[in-house]
Amino acid sequence: MSQRNNGKEAQIARLEAQLLVLKEQLLQSEKLASLGQLAAGVAHEINNPIGYVSSNMKMLAEYSDSLINLVKLLSMQVDEAQRLPLLAQFDFDYVCADLPKLVQESEQGLSRVVDIIHDLKDFSHIEEAEFVEADLHQGIQSTLNLVANELKYKADVVKDFAELPSVHCIPSQLNQVLLNLLINAAHAIEQHGIIRISTGCNDNWVWFSVSDTGKGMEPAQLGRIFEPFYTTKPKGQGTGLGLPLSRSIVEKHQGVLDVSSTPGVGSCFTVKLPRQPQL
Ligand SMILES: Nc1ncnc2c1ncn2[C@@H]1O[C@H](COP(=O)(O)OP(=O)(O)OP(=O)(O)O)[C@@H](O)[C@H]1O
Ligand SMILES: [Mg+2]
Repeated sequence: MSQRNNGKEAQIARLEAQLLVLKEQLLQSEKLASLGQLAAGVAHEINNPIGYVSSNMKMLAEYSDSLINLVKLLSMQVDEAQRLPLLAQFDFDYVCADLPKLVQESEQGLSRVVDIIHDLKDFSHIEEAEFVEADLHQGIQSTLNLVANELKYKADVVKDFAELPSVHCIPSQLNQVLLNLLINAAHAIEQHGIIRISTGCNDNWVWFSVSDTGKGMEPAQLGRIFEPFYTTKPKGQGTGLGLPLSRSIVEKHQGVLDVSSTPGVGSCFTVKLPRQPQL
């Protein structure tokens, strides 16, 4: 009798532990969703001022050209003895040379901000929390643009893209999976390495993979990476939820998240999505 009770208690303890894990996963995915919402909100808010600052910048470039030409013409009317000290006093030659450069740099900066906003919107796709037919390469590219700065110190990123059909998916969630895989790959590289993003398809599957020349994993470690909270990163740096969450997203897409790894050589994670999912 007491043995039976012990069994029940163990079962309850197991179920409670599973519940805790599921709660954490839910919390994490809610966090991601609100992060996406925040990103889309910020992108939307910035879009408006950036729009008028950009068009003002174009006018500023034209006006400053006109003003410089006007000053040059007027200054020719003044005799040289007066003109030269005045031009020197206002550093006129320097201003003439520097002003167009400043305007050009500002325009470049603005167009970078416009690109970032575009990528943020693409990344979060808040309005598309539903399954849609999407171009995988577009999501891959905007996710890459977002993390390019962080990756560039760790790795050269190589793209090896095949022709792909559109995929039935929730783009923001697949972007999240790719982001997790890219960050893991960068973390696995100790000095400087290569991160390769490949895509491909056959009759049944469409896939993308992220491979790295990082430290790789021993079989025992490989067997645990999809366990919630399994992390080898220092406290505070990893929650160990990136891969379990990624796997549950891929499974929601009726897909498979495969991994292969060789210690000291590198790892490769492949996301396979069905070409004809059951609707
Ligand atoms: N590309 C990789 N190369 C080597 N080890 C990896 C790689 N990707 C994952 N791992 C191992 O798997 C573990 C779990 O990864 P996971 O993404 O789930 O969590 P994490 O990266 O530690 O934390 P986070 O929750 O911030 O993602 C990592 O701590 C690391 O030990
Ligand atoms: Mg991770």
